[in-house]
Amino acid sequence: YIQDAAGKTITVHNVDGRLYPTFNPDFIRGVSSLQLRDDDVILCSFPKSGTHWSFEICRLLLNGRLDIDIKPKGCLFADWRPESELNEVDSPRIINTHVRFDRLPSDVETKKPKIVYIRRNPKDLVVSFYHHIRKIEGYHYDGDFKDFLPLFSNGVSYGSWFDYVLEWERIIANNQELSILDITYEDLKEDPIKEIRRLSDFLGVQRNEDFFEEIKEFCNFSTMKDRFKDKMGIKDGHDIFYRRGEVGDWKNWFTVAQNEWFDQLYREKMADSKLKFKFTL
Ligand code: A3P
Repeated sequence: YIQDAAGKTITVHNVDGRLYPTFNPDFIRGVSSLQLRDDDVILCSFPKSGTHWSFEICRLLLNGRLDIDIKPKGCLFADWRPESELNEVDSPRIINTHVRFDRLPSDVETKKPKIVYIRRNPKDLVVSFYHHIRKIEGYHYDGDFKDFLPLFSNGVSYGSWFDYVLEWERIIANNQELSILDITYEDLKEDPIKEIRRLSDFLGVQRNEDFFEEIKEFCNFSTMKDRFKDKMGIKDGHDIFYRRGEVGDWKNWFTVAQNEWFDQLYREKMADSKLKFKFTL
């Protein structure tokens, strides 16, 4: 367990020194030994960064059409599924995970698959994570936002967001031989066509501008939410993974004092970082 500022507990698993949701520890450990196929794409994110959204865009781009079976990203969520189930999914697979870089499949070093990395501003992310953790039964949490927010500096499940994004910043700067596309939730929201085009170029698929427009419409928040109704595979998953879908919702949750506290924390933790995040559009 870990506790929020009011002493309310959140149930997590400690697996080899890191905190995770209460998934099977063997599946979490198994991520690092997954056997990759040559055409696998790896989608990496800290939870609540827009994983479902970017997964769906990549899936449509790779398939080249909209009228394919609905497959939620959970089918290829490596932290949660055994390798045998991931292997049942046809290529091209978009293996998605929230584990840290050093726990990615070791095949990443040798096969050098395409890696899509999506990140999101931490204020919206913590609000989204708060709702997520309250709704997912495994966490057994019913605390208040004001008591949850202080946990953000050290992290809850999957550890500290700061450590996660700072590590990726270093990886991208120092590993030119890896093939990584860095995208943000906010850019995807602000100019979806531009980001869908970047993803298409990165994935190396030849799709035209009309198709980008179609994907944009097909993946906008309300359309996508509607399409995935009853398809999430976990109880209440729909409400958890499709909540508001906005940039700046944090303003409805942060008090002035909380915002000042957060800005100070951000300045300290990100002092040596060049990363930029948009907190509003
Ligand atoms: P909110 O809780 O702020 O609404 P993840 O997929 O990484 O778990 O991230 C979930 C967040 O992405 C949720 O944020 C969810 O509403 C948002 N989201 C899901 N689909 C989206 C879409 N098509 N467009 C915009 N945001 C989306």
